[in-house]
Amino acid sequence: MAKKIVLKRSKRRRRNRKTPIIKLIGVFILVVFVVWVIVAAPFKTTKVADEVLHGNVKEKINFSPQEGDYIQTGKTITYDATLVCRGLFGKEVALGAKGNELVITVEENKLKNKVDINKNKIKISNSVTSGTPISVRVSYKNQSKTYKYTVRDDLKKKIGEDMFVKNPKEYDCVVNKKRHVSSDYEPDDLVYPDVDYAQTNKTVRQMRKKAARALEDLFKGARENDYIFFAVSGYRPYNMQESIHTSQIREYGSEEEANKYSAKAGESEHQLGLSMDVSINSLSYKLTEELADTDEGKWLAENCHKYGFIIRFPKGKESITGYNYEPWHVRYVGKDLAKLIHDNDLTLEEYFEL
Ligand code: DAL
Ligand code: ZN
Repeated sequence: MAKKIVLKRSKRRRRNRKTPIIKLIGVFILVVFVVWVIVAAPFKTTKVADEVLHGNVKEKINFSPQEGDYIQTGKTITYDATLVCRGLFGKEVALGAKGNELVITVEENKLKNKVDINKNKIKISNSVTSGTPISVRVSYKNQSKTYKYTVRDDLKKKIGEDMFVKNPKEYDCVVNKKRHVSSDYEPDDLVYPDVDYAQTNKTVRQMRKKAARALEDLFKGARENDYIFFAVSGYRPYNMQESIHTSQIREYGSEEEANKYSAKAGESEHQLGLSMDVSINSLSYKLTEELADTDEGKWLAENCHKYGFIIRFPKGKESITGYNYEPWHVRYVGKDLAKLIHDNDLTLEEYFEL
């Protein structure tokens, strides 16, 4: 008898212990239900055009290309807004939001005259250099968001079947063994950079204006660190490249060997007026790989991108660029592209995925 009473009591105690757990589950279910009712608004209906939508109606902005993608010059980024209904019977409905209700602004001031913003479209001018970042702010009713893009031209479209580049004037023009410059191309804005030279030939002292100003800044920046550079060889017209290459073949003993260092006429980006070979006094102004081991050469490799230049033929990338390591050859591409190439350890070819 006594045993039975003890058993009953222990059963009751167990039941009592279960009660708070059941209550807690009940409260939890209730909270979930209330949140669901508030968020999903399952019983709310909205009439849009002739459709009755059940649930919360929100606007959604669609954009193409996707945020973070590359965008080509001459191409368009488009946006549109749709109504989206979410709830118990929620569905996505592409309804009504017209493009011109979107407010689109490009945040970079320097791109002001280089992007054409028209209703829900943004067209990037051909004069924008690859590597340029673009931040687009899109506002729609009470929403607003910034989308970021980077310009990268499709260089396959910038070359003819004859292998000649169509864009020798663009700062992101790529010239190499597969992309040639026509023999009659001469830049029309060549100037003499105001820098120290180890060069008496006046023609090759020249560079295009923007590149020349950038070279002056580069040399000034180096001097602030007590590194003194000398400009050795910049712009080379087609004929000059031809005679240099012929003499290089004589020096190296074969066309194949010479072509690892020296471009054939029409294949040298020196013809663009955007490159300069540089050296220092302690190397007797020679263009030699030894530059890479000097403090000056190390500074150049680490800092030239801040002035818009890249080391065009880096070590370890010979099979991509087609040329041996040239720590002395800097190429102007503009600060944005130079930084991207430097920070990601790329060559021009790799940036364009050529
Ligand atoms: N040294 C480089 C490859 C040129 O000749 O343009
Ligand atoms: Zn060079």
